[in-house]
Order: sequence, then structure tokens, then C-alpha cells
Amino acid sequence: MKALTIRPGDPDSLGVTDVPEPHAAAGELLVEAVALGVCGTDREIVRGEHGEAPEGSDRLVLGHESLGRVVEAPEGSGWDVGALVAGVVRRPDPVPCGACARGRFDMCRNGRFTERGIQGVDGFGSERWRIEPDYAVPVDDSLGTLGILVEPTSVVAKAWEQVELVGRRSWFEPDSVLVTGAGPIGLLAALLGVQRGLEVHVLDQVTEGPKPDLVRALGASYHEEPVDDVMAALRPEVVLEATGASSVVVDVLSGTARYGVVCLLGVSPGGRSVRIDAGGVNREFVLENDALIGSVNAHQGHFRAAATALADADRDWLDRLVTRRVPFARAAEAFEPGPGDIKTVIEL
Ligand code: BGC
Repeated sequence: MKALTIRPGDPDSLGVTDVPEPHAAAGELLVEAVALGVCGTDREIVRGEHGEAPEGSDRLVLGHESLGRVVEAPEGSGWDVGALVAGVVRRPDPVPCGACARGRFDMCRNGRFTERGIQGVDGFGSERWRIEPDYAVPVDDSLGTLGILVEPTSVVAKAWEQVELVGRRSWFEPDSVLVTGAGPIGLLAALLGVQRGLEVHVLDQVTEGPKPDLVRALGASYHEEPVDDVMAALRPEVVLEATGASSVVVDVLSGTARYGVVCLLGVSPGGRSVRIDAGGVNREFVLENDALIGSVNAHQGHFRAAATALADADRDWLDRLVTRRVPFARAAEAFEPGPGDIKTVIEL
């Protein structure tokens, strides 16, 4: 069968290549791929900056934003042939650490977890893939190919859960949230904020293209002013930072409401320095009982919450997030940035 593969570390190795059918040991469910989403992590892997092939192989099947239809399911697995399915990305470390032993592999402590299509295990970018029933998440059939958004939404479902857990240190009934970055993660974070009944503000630097209208269509407010001005005007109770841009990260640390919770979601390259008034930031965090958290990855519960949130969302709005659909044979094109891109999807 055909698969989208790369040689980790080699920026010229992306291609649709022949690979063996998925091995039965990879899971009892056999799935025919429908679509594959592309994100910043995939682009990093394609540039040779990230990613690890499975042991004994020099190539990695790419793809962790999955959607497929079950073609083979053992009796008693709870799965029917034809069901739409998305796959959980991470698998526990083999030790296992305390978190992985308790099913919280999204919080793995020793870093020896594996991630499909990213770290040490083949991903979902092949015509067929297998998955363990425990790591397969049902997707509402009415979502069709929009089910590809389950994985990125799982990441923001976890982020919202983390914000709410940290908020529960004391009384916490936030009214307002600022989301920085109107890419797929930022827009999906805004969607989940609106679904929670919050006053949602989204900040991005673009003034044209689909992002401002997508934000307004949610009933949220779009901002393109400098971050510190927006922070000063809004004094948000919650900030979800999804740009990973150093200057934005620094700016959202100051100017939250008292008891503010800032959650960082963007994976940024290191090595860039920005000036920061560390004393001022420290003073504000201490005197206001503010909290700063990072959040990555997601477990099955977050995937299920994501699938529910998407099933409840307006289909036309979700459809506008998918700005480019690329056929599998030309998959490499999906990794080149295009104008007005939000989410690029490879169709299998
Ligand atoms: C994926 C996560 C993963 C992270 C780091 C993200 O793009 O959504 O599942 O943990 O990359 O590899």
C-alpha cells in the first residue's frame, strides 16, 4: 500500500512510498484512511527538525491528525464496520512512569512515550492503518471529513480542562478569555470558549483572509492591535496562547485580571531572546495569585470531549477552517504554506 513517509532528520525525504500492509500487532481494528490533517509539528518533521522512526526502520509514516473508516473489527470490540474513527496519538512509556501507569500518558514524566507519526511509531498517513480499540475514538458520522479536526480539538479540550482544574484552586467563574493566534488551535480554542458561554476575544496579526470573519461568525471579537494594548483594555481572566511567538508569550504574562490563568499551547523553537520585566511579571503573578501552565497532547477523554464539541458545532463554520484539500498523490504540496491557510487536509 501507499504511505506518506519521511526519513527523520532528512529535509529532502518526504514522499508517497510503498510500505507493507499494517501488521496485526499494531491493533485489532483495521481502518481505511479517509483523510489526514497537517499541522506545524508535521512541517517540523518534514523539515528534518523533529521526529523519530520506529525501531529498526529508517523511515516514519507521517501523520497524527487521523480520520478513517473501520473495515475490520473483532466481535466484542464495540466497533462496527463502517464507523468513522480518529486515533489517539500518544502511547504510554514502557517503564511506565506514574502518570502513564494511571492512563495519563499525556502527562508522561520520563519522556519515553511514543507518538504515532511523530516519535517512534508509524502514523496514520497510509491507505490503511491499524489501531488498538482502546485508542480509537468514535467520530459522529455527520461530521464527514471534518472529523479530521478531532485531534487538534483534543489538544484544546485538554487545555480548557487544565485551565478549569487550575481555576478550581479557589472560586473561579471567568467571563472572558483571550486567545492569541487564529490558526486551527486558536480558532478551535475560541469555539470551545464560546461553547462554554464565555466572552471570547481572539488576537492575530492578520487583517485580511478568512480569520477575522471566522472569529466574528462565532460571536467572538477579533483584535489585531498590539498584544499589550489588548491585555490592558481587556484584562482577561483566562489567556490561551497559541502562537508560540516569544514576544506574544511574554506580553500575555502581564495584564491578566486578578487570579488570571495563562495557558501556553504553542510549541516554539528555542534560541530567541526577548527583553522581559521579570520583576514586574513576578510581582503581578504573586500579588494576584495568577497561574501559568503549559499543555500538550491529549488522552482518550479529551478526544471524546473534542468529538462531542465538534458534533455540536456549526458545520459550515468548521468547513471554513479547512482551507485546502490536497489529494494523497500530491501530498507533498500540503506542506508548503499557501495564502490564507488555516487547516490543510490530505484526502486519501
Ligand atoms: C500533537 C501532540 C503532540 C505534540 C508534540 C502536536 O502537534 O498534536 O499530540 O504531543 O505535537 O509532539
